[in-house]
Amino acid sequence: MAREELAVRVRRLTIGGQSVKIGGRTMGQAVRTPLFEVHESSIHGVGVFASRRIRKGTRVIEYLGERITHEVADERYHDDATEHPHVLLFIVDEAIVVDGGHGGNEARFINHSCDPNCEAVVVNGHIYIQAIKTIQPGVELTYDYRLTRPGRRRAIWKQLYACHCGAPNCRGTMLEPPTPRKRKR
Ligand SMILES: C[S@@+](CC[C@H](N)C(=O)[O-])C[C@H]1O[C@@H](n2cnc3c(N)ncnc32)[C@H](O)[C@@H]1O
Ligand SMILES: [Zn+2]
Repeated sequence: MAREELAVRVRRLTIGGQSVKIGGRTMGQAVRTPLFEVHESSIHGVGVFASRRIRKGTRVIEYLGERITHEVADERYHDDATEHPHVLLFIVDEAIVVDGGHGGNEARFINHSCDPNCEAVVVNGHIYIQAIKTIQPGVELTYDYRLTRPGRRRAIWKQLYACHCGAPNCRGTMLEPPTPRKRKR
């Protein structure tokens, strides 16, 4: 069964000593401009864009969603049921998958690019989208989905998972690059 990866940052406001989640805004002593905003993207549908400079290494957002088993994920998403059945699933480990389609946050709107400015990292069972470059305001946040499918690679997948990131090095698909075959000596 195919499973793919994807991934948010949650900002918090401390009220009376309690940490409270607030959508897209960091608050402390002063109100700060949100790190990102969601709007229309030239890559696909809506995407997530930096609303101020994001330094390399910043954990932008945690990829949130319902934490389910691989078995539940397989039952929930069938290959024929949706256009990209597993694109909202993110593998944490052998036991847990995060389903951004249920209880997810803005991270689920981050588009794929073959020349990304972010990457997904798993830390203590949590998935974060982290900047791998310093990102200027207005620039779309992206990461490389590197989607995987089981079994033999089928020609139709390239079309089904066609990439429109527009990067000069676009590999034409959101699927992970094929592993090079070992040469016979
Ligand atoms: C997690 S959603 C990203 C948010 C999406 N743009 C939206 O409006 O809901 C993933 C879906 O966005 C589309 N997508 C993301 N990156 C893409 C890319 N580089 N090229 C083509 N489609 C892309 C695909 O349809 C994919 O299944
Ligand atoms: Zn691409």
